Amino acid sequence: MRERNILLPQPSEKTEIAHELNKSPTTETVEGIEIHLLLDGIFQRYGYDFRNYTRAALKSRVRYCMWEERVNSVSALQEKILYDAGCWERCLYAFSVSVTSMFRDAGFYLAFKEKVVPLLCNYPLVRIWHAGCASGEEVYSISILLHEAGLYEHALIYATDMNASLLGRASAGVYSREKMKEYGENYRQAQGKGALADYYLPHEEGFIFRDELKKNIIWAQHNLVSDSSFNEFQVILCCNVLIYFDRVLQTRVHKLLYESLAPGGMLGLAGRESTRFSPYAACYEEMDAIAKWVRRIG
Ligand SMILES: C[S@@+](CC[C@H](N)C(=O)[O-])C[C@H]1O[C@@H](n2cnc3c(N)ncnc32)[C@H](O)[C@@H]1O
Repeated sequence: MRERNILLPQPSEKTEIAHELNKSPTTETVEGIEIHLLLDGIFQRYGYDFRNYTRAALKSRVRYCMWEERVNSVSALQEKILYDAGCWERCLYAFSVSVTSMFRDAGFYLAFKEKVVPLLCNYPLVRIWHAGCASGEEVYSISILLHEAGLYEHALIYATDMNASLLGRASAGVYSREKMKEYGENYRQAQGKGALADYYLPHEEGFIFRDELKKNIIWAQHNLVSDSSFNEFQVILCCNVLIYFDRVLQTRVHKLLYESLAPGGMLGLAGRESTRFSPYAACYEEMDAIAKWVRRIG
């Protein structure tokens, strides 16, 4: 794995990269055409399809990559990406927007414990899918809660992302001291039963999650834009991913999530994400409106 990538500051959902372009109406239009061509080029050259991601988020990522790659136009970035696979590998990190955390939203995890876990106790085997798992924090969070509920031994956890390098980091399960400190506080707020430190060991780069927490997790590359359903799940988490997709792509992914959920299965989304305005709205009932857990009823 490239050290450079690990150190790259990732553009977050909240921060715009402070790289300003000339914003006259003419150049805005030209920039739009260039971005369109760039996305076509990336798709043809590398098979990653960002054409139905929201333009606002893409623009800031493209500008960030221009700044990182020291080029002055989107066309120059396109040329560099098309001829230099290493450049694309670096840019894919920015395009992925892999901002994540353990126990990112305490309410979401409390609802998992209180509303989802009791229903899982009835299954001899529980299959869980984390779609868009980034560097794995969400996956370890759920694994810990399953362990504390006595369900981990009956669970198979599939963790997927389109970005293979992120999956490498996720499966290693190594996080810095600073991050683990922050995650320990999040775990406390999510009312974890013990201390987060019960689950990890010291490592030269910080801490590493114990093998017992990793043994039922399967890490795999899966692209929500182009890949199909690969199993039937009792629980699916697809958090902070749909927000980057336009309406057409959101509908495709809602279909995929619906088809991958077992009848009675439960889906967790985040923030502004919802099944409410999708063609599948009537197929779900709300379990917890605020925390975004819904159950498949149709
Ligand atoms: C903001 S992170 C969310 C991580 C985690 N789910 C969370 O909520 O903390 C978004 C993740 O979605 C992944 N992603 C974006 N587009 C994807 C796609 N088409 N297929 C699979 N994963 C995708 C990115 O690589 C990134 O790791």
